[in-house]
Amino acid sequence: MNSKFLKSGHIKLYKRENSNYWQMKIKLPRQKSLRSSTGTKILKDAEKIALKYYSSLIKKNNINFKKSQPVFKKIHLVETADLNKKEIEYILNESKKYIKFNKSKIKKINILEGRTIFNLFFEDSTRTRTSFEVAAKRLGADIINVSVRDSSINKGETLLDTMTTINSMNPDILIVRHPEEGISKKISSIVEASVINAGDGSHEHPTQALLDALTIKNKFKKFSKLKIAICGDILHSRVARSNIIILSKLGAKINVIGPKEWLPKNIKKFPVNIFTEMKKGLYNCDVVMMLRIQKERIVGKIMPNQKSYFKKYGLDYNKLKYAKKNAFVMHPGPMNRGFEIDSKLADDVTRSLIQEQVAMGVAIRMACLEIIINNRDRFIND
Ligand code: CP
Repeated sequence: MNSKFLKSGHIKLYKRENSNYWQMKIKLPRQKSLRSSTGTKILKDAEKIALKYYSSLIKKNNINFKKSQPVFKKIHLVETADLNKKEIEYILNESKKYIKFNKSKIKKINILEGRTIFNLFFEDSTRTRTSFEVAAKRLGADIINVSVRDSSINKGETLLDTMTTINSMNPDILIVRHPEEGISKKISSIVEASVINAGDGSHEHPTQALLDALTIKNKFKKFSKLKIAICGDILHSRVARSNIIILSKLGAKINVIGPKEWLPKNIKKFPVNIFTEMKKGLYNCDVVMMLRIQKERIVGKIMPNQKSYFKKYGLDYNKLKYAKKNAFVMHPGPMNRGFEIDSKLADDVTRSLIQEQVAMGVAIRMACLEIIINNRDRFIND
């Protein structure tokens, strides 16, 4: 080991190349970083020396580390409907430190050391599953991946039995993706662990909407004057639902655009303007968020012809001209290139924020894991 963090990252112990002596870097709030050698090659001794020095600095600078109460006090994250504007802003702000951290050379801070997190994915995933895994590992937690392919659900065990079995192993957080709507909430009511909804059917995908909000915030700073179009398969999209809730709470105006048969029956209950034509719906928009056509959920219904769908609703450079001059394009992924989005436009980094969304996914998920564990320590753990 060549580096170790103590005191939530305020102390970093590290070794320089060509030296066996431990160095310490101490960063206190509103103070410049202090670097010095600990004068020892033994990690345990270096820790004692750094902690003693750290305590003397705190005393000298009169620093009060009493943690302020968090704005988001819950121990589960299952629905965006549960979040108010202040809580959303709090999570976005807590993510900011991880954007910079994730670009640094050493991407490890052991603030969740000793904590156990389960990734329970009963539907396919690339971005969400891996970004939660990366997030947990960068914070020093132990993460265990379980997928339906290698679980006893294949032998007839019910999902709730699987959850209570895993709960008996005393995990801290269960991250759940499942095709059944509302299942995360149900699981949160029967287990002691915290539950994060990583997508439940067509219902909700809270961390996706939070990472989308963070991506937009990085570009525009404020939401109050923004007009955001969410386009395509609104009916089957948990991403659309969570984004409508989060982005409208933050103050953005939302246009939903899609074929009539893919607009939910209760769409008028949401704070959105409804369009069935791209030209009208994209007018004056700052952001155009395209949605994946949820082929796996369109069962027993007719799939549209790719060519005719793309002509009407697929986003390309021509349709993007209906939006504001420098409007940005987003897509939660995975993409159906040439179906809902033009391939060249998706890869055009001057217009597309798609890869930025993936990067923000790790920062948001690190913040969510940290906040939820802290809340467990504050409100339920001894
Ligand atoms: N956006 C999203 O949820 O992607 P995955 O299905 O790859 O996790």
